[in-house]
Amino acid sequence: MERADRTMMYFGRYPAVIERGQGCRVWDVDGKPYLDFLGGLAVDSLGHAPPAVVDAVSRQAATLVQTSNLLYTLPQIELAEFLVSHSGFDKVFFSNSGAEANEAALKLARKWGKRERNGAYRIIAADRSFHGRTLATLAATGNPAYREPFQPLPDGFDFVPFNDVDALADAVTEQTAGVILEPIQAEGGIHLPSEHYLADVRALCDEKRLMLIFDEVQTGVGRTGTLWGYQQWGIEPDVMTLAKGLGSGFPIGATLAKEPFCVFGPGDHASTFGGNPLACAVALAVQREIESKDLVAHAAELGRYLSERLQELVLHDARLKEVRGRGLLIALEFHDEIARQVLDLLRDRGLIANALNARTLRFVPPLIVTRAEVDEAVEILAAVLTELR
Ligand SMILES: Cc1ncc(COP(=O)(O)O)c(C=O)c1O
Repeated sequence: MERADRTMMYFGRYPAVIERGQGCRVWDVDGKPYLDFLGGLAVDSLGHAPPAVVDAVSRQAATLVQTSNLLYTLPQIELAEFLVSHSGFDKVFFSNSGAEANEAALKLARKWGKRERNGAYRIIAADRSFHGRTLATLAATGNPAYREPFQPLPDGFDFVPFNDVDALADAVTEQTAGVILEPIQAEGGIHLPSEHYLADVRALCDEKRLMLIFDEVQTGVGRTGTLWGYQQWGIEPDVMTLAKGLGSGFPIGATLAKEPFCVFGPGDHASTFGGNPLACAVALAVQREIESKDLVAHAAELGRYLSERLQELVLHDARLKEVRGRGLLIALEFHDEIARQVLDLLRDRGLIANALNARTLRFVPPLIVTRAEVDEAVEILAAVLTELR
């Protein structure tokens, strides 16, 4: 850890040096095992070292790794076909991360607004949102603490409270091109939309002719118990962005759009590594594994089970305020600012999670997590809460 601090810029690291992983478990360099309910920050859909990923990486690495997007490759075509045929979108742009996927979506909105809405370029985003750390995605992120050190940020973003469609309607002007929302605000604390909010936003965007972008970087690929988060609210956005779980740990981002919004032409946007055959072969293997093992339904079921088990703790412990979430994207909120203290004790007892803020823990285990592992995690948490009394 000292060597890391000497040579790497600050991230606020978790004090454990992890060497290897298997399934929902990781081991540190001293051989201590941990149950991993952080899952690479909602990334490791298939857990650690899953045979499907090991096989796809080895096979594709020995075949073809990178060609650039000046050439066609089969893994890229096949992954695009899979995503399009399993969603309501027509075309895909591949990149390497969530922020990049959102950058592409924001550029689509700008170009579409220029062409279709008389030069409109502004994007409405929500307070408490998180869309990434590049300058444009930070400009769309509704968290003043993240934004402040980097002001002035790129112009063109307006903010409204989440779950308030009237505020959104009031914020629309002639210059508005689109709206970007996470269907569930994840980094902001795992806040769900109220029952009709997303449908009302969809109707507003239709009425005003605005591009609706859903940032599903965290909620996509089965995390919330449906393949895409939007499916739970019976509507479809015009553009959806993915990253995190798509490659189960192998970096890849994707921006999916419906035909009228696929406005990139030659030279408009590109990424040297984006959609390289290695990343696409892995992401395709991950999607096939999720489908063939029915892991989306499994995530829904295990998410319900984890929520119920946490809810039992809330009922019997006045320090716990509530459990929030969908599928395997779950927050546990305390009344007081004890989340970081709890997190440290969980780590000592071999459970990795993370704190979204001083009062809130986040649990995002791999989609393959078992009932026995959920029981083990809840028992560790219960023991820590007893220790803290
Ligand atoms: C909803 C959402 N969008 C975008 C991002 C940024 O993704 P990345 O860190 O891969 O750039 C994140 C990361 O946590 C996220 O949760």
